[in-house]
Amino acid sequence: VTAPEPPSVHVKHYRDTAARCAAERNYRWLSGLDGVFRVPRLLWSEGDRLGFERVTGRHAAPADLVPLAGHLGTLHAAAFATALRGARLDAPFRTAPGHLIPGFLEGRLTAVVRELARGEVPGAALTSSQAAALLRGACGEPAAIYKDANPRNFLITAAGTVMVDFDDLTLAPFGYDLAKLVVGLAMTHGALPATQIADALHAYHTATHRHLPGLAALTWGKLMAWAEIHHILTSRYLGRAGYRHSWHDIRPAAPAGPARKAIGPGDPL
Ligand SMILES: Nc1ncnc2c1ncn2[C@@H]1O[C@H](COP(=O)(O)OP(=O)(O)O)[C@@H](O)[C@H]1O
Ligand SMILES: [Mg+2]
Repeated sequence: VTAPEPPSVHVKHYRDTAARCAAERNYRWLSGLDGVFRVPRLLWSEGDRLGFERVTGRHAAPADLVPLAGHLGTLHAAAFATALRGARLDAPFRTAPGHLIPGFLEGRLTAVVRELARGEVPGAALTSSQAAALLRGACGEPAAIYKDANPRNFLITAAGTVMVDFDDLTLAPFGYDLAKLVVGLAMTHGALPATQIADALHAYHTATHRHLPGLAALTWGKLMAWAEIHHILTSRYLGRAGYRHSWHDIRPAAPAGPARKAIGPGDPL
């Protein structure tokens, strides 16, 4: 009888012990949510490093957008229903187990203003004051989460989708992290058909609505507004991390006809 092979380890290094602790707390909080994503097992934790079970899978691709949108909707609804009902987006929130999740504006507002002031966001669709109004204006909405849904933070395996990278977790409005996935996929693979984005919006809405029937539907316009915030925050990474296309070259026009009606009136963006 041979002993089972020990799992092979994916070691992640953090800038310091505090950053490792924060990622570990995010990991534990996220794995406790009743979501549809699996997470790799955490094998050990030490100093500035975490040892995760190594997962064999591929990064998310455009064909995964619609199912992933549904999974994100389920995750966000679970986060809201089990932990974030009392959270306000403009303030940090301490969950019952004592985990502190930064607010939506914290850091983000400053980063958006700084990126626009550098003047290097190609074809930015928002001025600094428009972006600030958009971020602040969302703060009365119910709180979901941002956990950086870029396509490299999902490993697609035969046994389902595994979520990795627990470094960044903040409160965010519903739809915000879905927009990150849309922008990340498009920056990596090129323009996505508007109909596919509309299908993703529909899948996200169906999933959130199943758990939270009272939640207002995410509109095309709102999703695209969040995409513009991600464009502002992500364009500096163009040419790195697999990002080969700039959002300003590949923004979709709203789908015409019934698809658009089905997803709500939308805003002017
Ligand atoms: N547990 C794991 N098993 C296998 N590969 C992993 C695992 N965690 C991360 N990776 C791979 O390493 C990449 C970078 O890891 P990630 O935690 O996302 O770090 P970063 O902060 O650099 O984005 C991921 O996109 C994925 O391809
Ligand atoms: Mg990552």
